Amino acid sequence: MRSFKLLTFLSALASAQNFTESIAPSATAANGTQIPNPTLYATTLAINVEDYWNLRIGPVQEAATTTTVSPTPIPSTELIPPPPLYYAPFPTGQQVFKMPKNESWSFPKDFLWGVAGAAQQIEGAVKAEGRGPSIWDKLPRVPNYVVNNYTSDIADNNYYLYKQDIARIAALGVKVYSFSLSWSRILPFGKGPVNQLGIDHYNDVIDTCIEYGVTPMITLYHWDLPLYLQDTYGGWLSSSIVPDFVEYARIAYTAFGDRVSHWFTVNEPIVFCGFYPLPTQHFPNFTIPNLHQRYWCGHHVLLAHAEAYHLGKQILGANSTIALKHNGGYKIPLTNSSADAEAVQRAWDFNEGWFSDPVFLTGDYPASLKAFVSGFLPEFTEEQKGMINGTADVYAHDAYTAQFYFAPEGGIEACVGDEENPLYPTCANTSYTYAPTSNSWLIGPAADPGSPWLHDATTYLPSFLHYLQRTWPSRLGIFITEFGFAEPFESHKTLLQDILYDPVRSAYYRSYMQGVLAAMSEGVRVVGTLGWSFVDNYEWAQGYSVTFGMQYVNFSDPALPRRFKASFFEYVDAFEVYQEK
Ligand SMILES: *[C@@H]1O[C@H](CO)[C@@H](O)[C@H](O)[C@H]1NC(C)=O
Ligand SMILES: *[C@@H]1O[C@H](CO)[C@@H](O)[C@H](O)[C@H]1NC(C)=O
Ligand SMILES: *[C@@H]1O[C@H](CO)[C@@H](O)[C@H](O)[C@H]1NC(C)=O
Ligand SMILES: *[C@@H]1O[C@H](CO)[C@@H](O)[C@H](O)[C@H]1NC(C)=O
Ligand SMILES: *[C@@H]1O[C@H](CO)[C@@H](O)[C@H](O)[C@H]1NC(C)=O
Ligand SMILES: *[C@@H]1O[C@H](CO)[C@@H](O)[C@H](O)[C@H]1NC(C)=O
Ligand SMILES: *[C@@H]1O[C@H](CO)[C@@H](O)[C@H](O)[C@H]1NC(C)=O
Ligand SMILES: *[C@@H]1O[C@H](CO)[C@@H](O)[C@H](O)[C@H]1NC(C)=O
Ligand SMILES: *[C@@H]1O[C@H](CO)[C@@H](O)[C@H](O)[C@H]1NC(C)=O
Ligand SMILES: *[C@@H]1O[C@H](CO)[C@@H](O)[C@H](O)[C@H]1NC(C)=O
Repeated sequence: MRSFKLLTFLSALASAQNFTESIAPSATAANGTQIPNPTLYATTLAINVEDYWNLRIGPVQEAATTTTVSPTPIPSTELIPPPPLYYAPFPTGQQVFKMPKNESWSFPKDFLWGVAGAAQQIEGAVKAEGRGPSIWDKLPRVPNYVVNNYTSDIADNNYYLYKQDIARIAALGVKVYSFSLSWSRILPFGKGPVNQLGIDHYNDVIDTCIEYGVTPMITLYHWDLPLYLQDTYGGWLSSSIVPDFVEYARIAYTAFGDRVSHWFTVNEPIVFCGFYPLPTQHFPNFTIPNLHQRYWCGHHVLLAHAEAYHLGKQILGANSTIALKHNGGYKIPLTNSSADAEAVQRAWDFNEGWFSDPVFLTGDYPASLKAFVSGFLPEFTEEQKGMINGTADVYAHDAYTAQFYFAPEGGIEACVGDEENPLYPTCANTSYTYAPTSNSWLIGPAADPGSPWLHDATTYLPSFLHYLQRTWPSRLGIFITEFGFAEPFESHKTLLQDILYDPVRSAYYRSYMQGVLAAMSEGVRVVGTLGWSFVDNYEWAQGYSVTFGMQYVNFSDPALPRRFKASFFEYVDAFEVYQEK
């Protein structure tokens, strides 16, 4: 009987139009207006977390291993680095490769180098121990939203294998492990009762890091929004997210702040705000024009981040490091025309500048972006601007690559006045190749075709880092919180030894670290680098078809074994050669 009523409720969800009224009687529109007749369609349905899974997600897959696995020693043979990867070594037979050292380069002793991962991409065990669903448990169930409809139900099963994962990175000498918390493990509905089992899990992840001499760093939000918050008020589209995020941050700081002093509030808001509008057949549509949704999201991200920053400083103390993770590539004008220079500026403004100008410079958006959003977003009050400005101790950037930018056909001005232009509102066209006058060569070797945005453009990295330091100076400097590479066609390889030998990714890591060293020797302050990622994992809409791991994971083997790829040794080598002892 009960399940029948729940099914009725589910169909109400599906007819999205009336969804807001039927389950969120007190919801407000994103612009703050109260929904008309808020009490008319109230309901008192009480749903436990299991019901909610059944209603919105349905069955999930379970891993072969569903209890925490104790770590075992890493076989010493696994720690032997590969032979030279790029150029034949003479004399022949040299087994242990090393970067030739440039004596003008070094990493300071306290340089924070390590690896990063994110809850939804690695943990699996999505229903274990009281976890509630996130939007990324729903999105893979939207037909064809994800390649092969792959889910992250099991992923790397890191929820049970984390001890071994930490032991493996420690065996290579990695100093930092940056992971994200699953909000819906700690608060299954995103707000309300705390799930102590979720807290216990992350306590043990942190304690295991410390036991192995690895510094843990936490990201609060890496895209896995509790589904309930999306269903009831539109998630980041609504100002209701601000107090809910801040309360979640308070719970996390209080639980883990005694052992973790480096925190990131949100990961890459440009990307997760860009997921809006979510597919409306599967999520309620919240009456905000599609093109405006991402900017409402960004607006609430800035307010939520800033409040969480100030609260973090109170709870964690002044010596904590709190920031948000920006993302984007270096932006290069395709030609020397003034129109292309303007296109580049607009591209910075609508990407990094969207969050970096408010947080590092003014408390408000860059001019070209503001000209667009002031048509529908409320202006930040002076008080809000003051609260937002200065809320990052370090400039954290996921700095993977670079692109060329140029003005649209017909010019920027015409595009800015034409909502129908496919490049509106940024009005900057983009290219991965040099201009035809330079024979249209690619900017650098391409990653897997599933990640068409990514090329090894490390030759531009020093300029990129100089630009970031000059444009958005921060108290502590730049922290490269992600970088990495999807080896082309790696998921098509079938022989283990072929997979472990990843020359394009290895070359990327080598030249990337040299780019960082060169920039540092020229006066750019870089405090650390985090390689993405320490294992192959669930790459969002690409599922398991694209791999970013410095360790291979065999997703067809129920034990999900990990093996170091050559690139991991290349990354570690940079510190063996250059870090001051
Ligand atoms: C929404 O509710 C109104 C009554 O308030 C009703 O007339 C309309 O048919 C409903 N729409 C849908 C899609 O269920
Ligand atoms: C706010 O949004 C609601 C619902 O979309 C709309 O009816 C109302 O006119 C808007 N108010 C303002 C001030 O934009
Ligand atoms: C994904 O699911 C949809 C709907 O069930 C189905 O039509 C499609 O063939 C599936 N795609 C693959 C690659 O299996
Ligand atoms: C969602 O609602 C908005 C505002 O009513 C509308 O502009 C948009 O087209 C809707 N989106 C979809 C996919 O139906
Ligand atoms: C912050 O760090 C500095 C330098 O290590 C130290 O002198 C100071 O006592 C610390 N302050 C707090 C509040 O822990
Ligand atoms: C732009 O001008 C600079 C300096 O004059 C020159 O070195 C560079 O090659 C030019 N770039 C392009 C893409 O024309
Ligand atoms: C924003 O903060 C920075 C320092 O964090 C300061 O230099 C700048 O003047 C502030 N901007 C405004 C508009 O207050
Ligand atoms: C952007 O550039 C591509 C490639 O040159 C071109 O095909 C496309 O028409 C351009 N778009 C606009 C709106 O100018
Ligand atoms: C992955 O595991 C499957 C199942 O155990 C096995 O058949 C396959 O050979 C493994 N692949 C690699 C590359 O080791
Ligand atoms: C060594 O580093 C310096 C400073 O970055 C640079 O100018 C020089 O070209 C480098 N030498 C080699 C051989 O790469």
